[in-house]
Amino acid sequence: MYNVILGTGSAAPDNVVTNHDLEKIMDTNDEWIVQRTGIKSRHIALPGEKFSDFAVPAAQQALARSGLVAADLDMILAGTMTPDQLMPSGACTVQALLGADKATAMDICAACSGFIYGLSIADKYLKCDPSLNILVIGGEIVSHHLDWDDRTTAVLFGDAVGAAVVGARETGHRLLAVETGSNGNLGDLLYIEGTGSKTPVTKDFDIDNNYIKMRGREIFKHAIKNMVEVSNRALASAGKTVDQVTKIIPHQANMRIIEMLAKQFKKPMDEVFVNIDRYGNTSAGTIPVALNEAANSDFLEPGDLVLMTVFGGGLTWAAAVIEW
Ligand SMILES: CC(C)(COP(=O)(O)OP(=O)(O)OC[C@H]1O[C@@H](n2cnc3c(N)ncnc32)[C@H](O)[C@@H]1OP(=O)(O)O)[C@@H](O)C(=O)NCCC(=O)NCCS
Repeated sequence: MYNVILGTGSAAPDNVVTNHDLEKIMDTNDEWIVQRTGIKSRHIALPGEKFSDFAVPAAQQALARSGLVAADLDMILAGTMTPDQLMPSGACTVQALLGADKATAMDICAACSGFIYGLSIADKYLKCDPSLNILVIGGEIVSHHLDWDDRTTAVLFGDAVGAAVVGARETGHRLLAVETGSNGNLGDLLYIEGTGSKTPVTKDFDIDNNYIKMRGREIFKHAIKNMVEVSNRALASAGKTVDQVTKIIPHQANMRIIEMLAKQFKKPMDEVFVNIDRYGNTSAGTIPVALNEAANSDFLEPGDLVLMTVFGGGLTWAAAVIEW
């Protein structure tokens, strides 16, 4: 028996905001955004839309493709920093809406790395109990934490959620290794100050504390370094070398980061999955949404050795190796 990806799904708000739309509300332009980031448009939730509105359909697609129903789920892990409410967890909200009555549900707060962190936990649970069916979700409604007056962050992010069901089977898309890492000493490079116990919501709450703050250039350097390191670690624990990798599904934070990663691994760009142009950075959503689109297009072919790698606030980073 191997731990395998049984099925994937994803969903995003219908509302699409282009770079040209952003030009009308802030001092930016399509040329700058495309050249510096590769982003052309992103999905942005409308007022009232929340995490579960997209996590539930993503999960339902993943379940249908797995040949399972919600009642078969033993565990739901949601990598998100933007659940519907602080309590209950996003995973518990999704559990109730799916009707996954026997599942244990919890959130994983690892910013962009949340989905692969979830895969890592699922992988280890399955090694202890191969009978489990585990739903791993990753994604955000990150737009609620964007300051539309801050062009250095607002143009970069978007909303979307992806999901995968994992279980132990004799055949399937085999999860060979998952590795993770973090460095809390670098937490101040990318953060949201408010609504935690340090800066709680009071009647004097400064709305600026609700917004993402980022030191982009420094993040850029750490992103490359740590994604390369954790990818090499995941490949070593899978018993594979980078030469054997045939497809890469990287975090979709910046096209230049994706291209530098491909260069480091000496891979042509047609072996690297890219959808940043249509989504922007959806934080914990980038990897499962990209995996779902790659799996349901002709990008992934049977026998591919797939490397997925991610990086985010915390700082956190992670990589997974899948034999497709
Ligand atoms: C944020 C990021 C795109 C900025 O790109 P950059 O090439 O480093 O650009 P800089 O921050 O040096 O800014 C260059 C200039 O563009 C300007 N600029 C910044 N945002 C702009 C925007 N949206 N539109 C137009 N100009 C902009 C800056 O003000 C600066 O102007 P100046 O030279 O007159 O001071 C890039 O650093 C990045 O992607 N970093 C990693 C971020 C990331 O991955 N975050 C998520 C991790 S999960």
